Amino acid sequence: MEVVILAAGKGTRMNSTLPKVLHQIGGKPMLAHVIEAAKELGSEQIHVVVGFEADKITAYCAENLADTKLSFVAQTEQLGTGHAVQQALPGMQNTADDEVVLILYGDVPLIQSHTLAALIESTNENTVSILTAITEDPTGLGRILRDETNQVVAIVEEKDANQQQRQIKEINTGIMALPAGKLKTWLGNLSNNNKQNEYYLTDVIAMAVADGCSVVPQILVDEIEALGVNDKIQLALLERYFQNRVAGYLLQIGVTLRDPNRIDIRGDIEFGKDVEIDINCVFEGKVTLGNGVSIGANCVIKNSIIDDNVQILPGCNIDGAIISKGCVIGPTARLRPGTNLSQDVKIGNFVETKNAHFGKGSKANHLSYIGDAEIGEGVNIGAGTIFCNYDGVNKHKSTVGNNVFIGSNSVLVAPAIIEDDAFIAAGSNITAKVQTGQLAVGRAKQRNIDGWKRPKKK
Ligand code: UD1
Ligand code: MG
Repeated sequence: MEVVILAAGKGTRMNSTLPKVLHQIGGKPMLAHVIEAAKELGSEQIHVVVGFEADKITAYCAENLADTKLSFVAQTEQLGTGHAVQQALPGMQNTADDEVVLILYGDVPLIQSHTLAALIESTNENTVSILTAITEDPTGLGRILRDETNQVVAIVEEKDANQQQRQIKEINTGIMALPAGKLKTWLGNLSNNNKQNEYYLTDVIAMAVADGCSVVPQILVDEIEALGVNDKIQLALLERYFQNRVAGYLLQIGVTLRDPNRIDIRGDIEFGKDVEIDINCVFEGKVTLGNGVSIGANCVIKNSIIDDNVQILPGCNIDGAIISKGCVIGPTARLRPGTNLSQDVKIGNFVETKNAHFGKGSKANHLSYIGDAEIGEGVNIGAGTIFCNYDGVNKHKSTVGNNVFIGSNSVLVAPAIIEDDAFIAAGSNITAKVQTGQLAVGRAKQRNIDGWKRPKKK
């Protein structure tokens, strides 16, 4: 089985410089969804017909789908869907006549592989399968023509259809599976003698019937699968359909979603048991959530590993972090890449961490910046503590031992070294090493001046 994905169109109505098929659904280009469906079918070869901004499409695939074997075919002028498939023929010279060729559209991203599998199943050397749908509003779509015995005999495009044909509610989704040998012959016989002067792929259906092939229509159960994207309105609509589908799956596997209409999954997420997610959370990239993880409202979590029983309180922004069992994060904490928290760590409100390792049970509960730091176990970082990791040119790393207490509003100028059991007095500016068990007081001594007169207005 081989797949041809049509992706040459410009997508004028998207009003964008990005080729249409690179616009995203669920954080992934539409084309990537279609390629994924094709891969799940075990396709031997995937031909992608590209035209408008082809370089951007091939560049995306080279970077993100490097492990998928794709062959790109250029269609410099968009002369119709039949013409587009014709461009893939040279790449199919060695394809056996009885192999099945599946035609997909790069801008129809919600198609499911099990739907396609059924289509392929019913296709053979003498049978073409087409995916159709019954729709209330068939405007603009090709209509399925059936004879008096209900057999499909042709597809007529709306612009070429007569008044009676336009009443037909069964439409061509565009997705079809055909025998390779016959398809090659039929494509060779296409003409552009129609209202749009295009080479219509749909014309092969009448040719198949004339050749004595049977045409098997499969009527889509879920019409959403065949919806295409032509503008940003449809893109937004399909995004919601996609998210609803994902949310439905999550509920099915036992994730508690406070409101399945208010979650966005833009990547690959793994879930443990008894995970609870409150409203308006966004997940991006690769995220793993262990058992019993709870996530408060309005969190954005990207490329992170969150272990069992971690509580993420509302309003957190977490990117590139590893969070071990039992940690409590937030509300409103920001964990940046390289954050690595051991068990039972607490990161509280308005705390920012970056490239920082926290040992077991350490805490930074309020208003701090902790960047480029190695922090031991049982450390308490007081409110307002700042790790000055940047000297204006370079970043430096600081090290804090076990059971250290850092008083509020301290500034640790990196590279700071604070050994085990040290105690930093509140408001200290630490520029020198603090040894084991020492108290460091890095501030001017308080002076109280008696009889102080406030300045008077002139
Ligand atoms: C096509 C079908 C129509 C069907 C509809 C479903 C034909 C002649 N008509 O119509 O029966 O109901 O899809 O949406 O096939 N493309 C290329 N190169 C081209 C032309 C198109 O790559 O030269 C790509 C487009 O980028 C798009 C897809 O093929 O992804 C469909 O093209 P489009 O112009 O939207 O076809 P329709 O006229 O809508
Ligand atoms: Mg179209």
